Amino acid sequence: MSFLSGHAGGSSAIWFLLVLLLRCCLTEKSDGALTVVENGGGGEEATVDDDDDDDDDGDLEVVQPTEQWQTLKPGQAVPAGSHVRLNLQTGQREVRLGEEQLKYWTQEHREEETKTSFSPDELKRAMKKIKEDLNPGAHQDSVGSRYRPLDELKRDMAQLDLLMETDVQIMKRLLEQLNSSDTSPEQRLNILLELEYLVHQVDNAQTLCSMGGLQLILEGLNSSDSRLQESSAFVLGSALSSNPAVQVRAVEKGALQTLLTSLATAPKLGIKKKVLFAMASLLRHFPYAQRHFLSHGGLQVLSELFRTDGSGILRTRVVTMLYDMISEKELMLQAGLDQVQDPAHEERLRQYSEVSLQGKLLEEGWCRLVPTLLQSTEHDCREKALRALLAMAPVCLDQYRSDGSLLGSLLSLRLQYQEMVRSENILGEETSYFTEIVELIEALQRKMK
Ligand SMILES: *[C@@H]1O[C@H](CO)[C@@H](O)[C@H](O)[C@H]1NC(C)=O
Ligand SMILES: *[C@@H]1O[C@H](CO)[C@@H](O)[C@H](O)[C@H]1NC(C)=O
Repeated sequence: MSFLSGHAGGSSAIWFLLVLLLRCCLTEKSDGALTVVENGGGGEEATVDDDDDDDDDGDLEVVQPTEQWQTLKPGQAVPAGSHVRLNLQTGQREVRLGEEQLKYWTQEHREEETKTSFSPDELKRAMKKIKEDLNPGAHQDSVGSRYRPLDELKRDMAQLDLLMETDVQIMKRLLEQLNSSDTSPEQRLNILLELEYLVHQVDNAQTLCSMGGLQLILEGLNSSDSRLQESSAFVLGSALSSNPAVQVRAVEKGALQTLLTSLATAPKLGIKKKVLFAMASLLRHFPYAQRHFLSHGGLQVLSELFRTDGSGILRTRVVTMLYDMISEKELMLQAGLDQVQDPAHEERLRQYSEVSLQGKLLEEGWCRLVPTLLQSTEHDCREKALRALLAMAPVCLDQYRSDGSLLGSLLSLRLQYQEMVRSENILGEETSYFTEIVELIEALQRKMK
């Protein structure tokens, strides 16, 4: 059972879920570990007339998960089959329905399932009913047959496919389904959604690769169904994020070409956004991929995207991506000044030196393209443009100086933001985002003098 994400196998009937609630709950201990409580302490007998039943059942607060993530408090338990994750921002554990449960969560069960916890009495009644269902007639026999050993109960659950599934098992199952021609597009979309969730964990993303999943995801990018293209790009981008092992495997599998083709041909904005995300994740801190991106016409594809983007959403993302690539290399070169002895660092420097991004930006007309982003009405957009313009200044200065429209934009934006800073000062606010923008504009104007 993984610590960050517990996921247990599915259920097909609410009664069996209730068995798990009572006897096999995933409990959240205050020390933070997820443990399986197998034995409530009162024997395996669970009929209403059970006298020596442990009090634990009364203390156990069971959270009923829904489709939405909810925060778990210490001491709360969740039914097996639920998805449990650690929210890295808040440090708290959260739960929602597991995949199988979501499937089961049909409209007709919604009403009867809206309660957030079950009382011990309800659980016991449910338990009794299950036992009768599992073993019709047996409850009338001798006392011995009424005490069902836990092992037996476990076997019943195993037969009902209710035992815990690890992330690895889940991914194996999902990939098999994805690889099957019997799987419908709707099912594929659900599988991809589930995979996207799983690959946020570095280990899971690497396991996905070793199981051959990367190939299937790349094939999904080639799909004629645009929803599948979009979801596949999303899974790929998440798997690649901050995961060098996956970045290398993806380049080996030809992901760069597939992504470039998708970026150039994708019919919808939604797909382009996700493909761009995957592309940026692939290139990040990976000079080898960056070099091949440039030599395979990556900047032409991006400039086509920039020119045809009516929404402005892609423009900002494209420029941010370029800015990230420039500043990543700059930071590396600066760090190089104090780390001359480290051979790994020298190799990295050598690889970055082969990424001739700045020269290409000049050749491909980006010195004229990026200033047009300043005409946006969004502060965020202008800020990203200013940062990129500053980063590109070493190669673009001559073009900036002869760009009348850029000079005009800078003048009017400077006045506009200075005015906004003044009104903020009157209101007694601290130095703000707008001050930052004024400083960016002034820095650029100084360079252009
Ligand atoms: C998908 O199916 C093919 C042929 O049946 C098989 O060769 C391949 O290994 C499978 N891929 C995965 C990831 O299961
Ligand atoms: C995607 O399609 C292109 C062109 O049809 C093909 O060359 C490429 O191999 C395909 N990629 C995958 C992963 O199937």
